[in-house]
Amino acid sequence: MTQQIIAIDGPAGSGKSTVARALASALGWAFLDTGAMYRAVTCEALERGIDVNDESAVGALAASVHLTTLPRVTVNGRDVEEVIRTDRVNGAVSVVAANALVRASMVARQRQWAAEQRLGTVVEGRDISTVVFPEATLKVFLTASLEERARRRGDEGEASVARRDEADTNRDASPLRQADDALVLDTTGRKVDDVVGEIIACLTNLHSN
Ligand code: CDP
Repeated sequence: MTQQIIAIDGPAGSGKSTVARALASALGWAFLDTGAMYRAVTCEALERGIDVNDESAVGALAASVHLTTLPRVTVNGRDVEEVIRTDRVNGAVSVVAANALVRASMVARQRQWAAEQRLGTVVEGRDISTVVFPEATLKVFLTASLEERARRRGDEGEASVARRDEADTNRDASPLRQADDALVLDTTGRKVDDVVGEIIACLTNLHSN
């Protein structure tokens, strides 16, 4: 059976996690937050005192760690659900995510995980529709104004959100970009259910064609 995948990409605070989670629940599908994986690797590198700019050391770490994202984000059995959202991790995750060795390891895990799901999977991140699942059933690119995205991120602040966007967009390895065939939705001022409804309508439309 061909796996059904809804791939959701977009910048920080664009609503990816909230929309993806609600969408997966409405469809009865699995949900994967790939940002949590990059954050968990970052956490482990910081915890072990590994320099996040040391590409081979962080690459080796990424290849060797055991990760879960649900029901809790854990790395080697340690619960990092809260720690992954701290300023320290916000400040270092873009460097870890720009590491091609880390990406290769995470992407392999993401594909493997999706292949194991019985029904479809909603996967969200930065490179899901462009690199991880370029053949996804449906590709969605979420955006929102910087002001609203920073407000949703709460304590992180506009400057940090803007800095991460800049780093994610301008890196060499799988930069954040919109797939040509993505459904582009601006979530500024929109309710989650409204956005989810539009995505489901688009999916239904695809299936009826
Ligand atoms: O929730 P938010 O949008 O703030 O970030 P996230 O989805 O938790 O992702 C955190 C960081 O991981 C991003 O700023 C990217 O640097 C990186 N990331 C990535 O490079 N590729 C992905 N597929 C997902 C996240």
